[in-house]
Amino acid sequence: MVVSSAPGKVYLFGEHAVVYGEPAVPCAIERRARVTVEERDDDRLRVHAEDLSLDGFTVEYSDEANATPDVDVSESLIQAGIGYIDAAVEQARDAADAPNAGFDITVESDIPLGAGLGSSAAVTVAGIDAGTRELGVELSAEEVAERAYQAELDVQDGEASRADTFCSATGGAVRVEGDDCRAIEAPDLPFVIGFDGSAGDTGELVAGVRSLREEYDFAAETVRNIGDIVRYGEQVLAEGDVEELGKLMNFNHGLLEALGVSSRSLDQMVWAARDAGALGAKLTGAGGGGCIVALDPTEATETGLKFTPGCEDAFRAELDTDGVRVEES
Ligand code: MEV
Repeated sequence: MVVSSAPGKVYLFGEHAVVYGEPAVPCAIERRARVTVEERDDDRLRVHAEDLSLDGFTVEYSDEANATPDVDVSESLIQAGIGYIDAAVEQARDAADAPNAGFDITVESDIPLGAGLGSSAAVTVAGIDAGTRELGVELSAEEVAERAYQAELDVQDGEASRADTFCSATGGAVRVEGDDCRAIEAPDLPFVIGFDGSAGDTGELVAGVRSLREEYDFAAETVRNIGDIVRYGEQVLAEGDVEELGKLMNFNHGLLEALGVSSRSLDQMVWAARDAGALGAKLTGAGGGGCIVALDPTEATETGLKFTPGCEDAFRAELDTDGVRVEES
């Protein structure tokens, strides 16, 4: 039996624009998904999931079409969850040249699903790491990242950037531009996260930005301006100027809002964070609902968010310099 874990992430800058080749800076946070994998003596998969923003469920199957969970929860959420686990299993089988390996898998996660914190990437990364190790193969973090990216491409019909999976596999702050992913230096970043309890539809939001960009030159210009913020933001990160980073986050949120990917509750949380004295605040991830990220070394933003209508949960999340790691084997 092997247990591996991998962190979720926030986007300091650059979501959406990264889809069009602009750079982005995701940062791993100390919220993890843990995947336990034990090889079976047949070719079946038994998946038990906890805390995926749904009641726990167990499903046992030999192919996805026959997957019948033991609880009554939304089919689409289960299929989404199973899709990533299945794709991770396929990658582990391929890496170990064991196409018929069966597994008992348990997924536990303290990253809300679909909320912009990279839950699916963390589950995929941890699943590939635990699955390959259980079959006697050790991959580097970069190899896990590559396989996790391929797995996300499979599940998301070819629409995925490398940002989430690379960041989850390697940890720390990361710069992503197309296929070029690398770790970058970052100061201590006092992240505070606000969660509205909902999840945006990434595919729909990405498609919305794509059509705006095709229709309006100024929307294409907005995407390029996000890239400019990221390029300047990298220098500011290297200098460790957290106050200036906050200002850039505010700018970045405004541009995302202009692209139509914010929401009333995300804006409310962003303003509550700023009113509480945060250095800056923006939505993180695809938007439409889910999470905001603010910078505040004091308790004020977390407290302010907890009293904000529309905010279901607020918590501090430090930058996690550890990527995927083995918890037990
Ligand atoms: C979603 O977490 C981030 C987006 O930029 C999409 C992507 O990069 O694949 C909106």
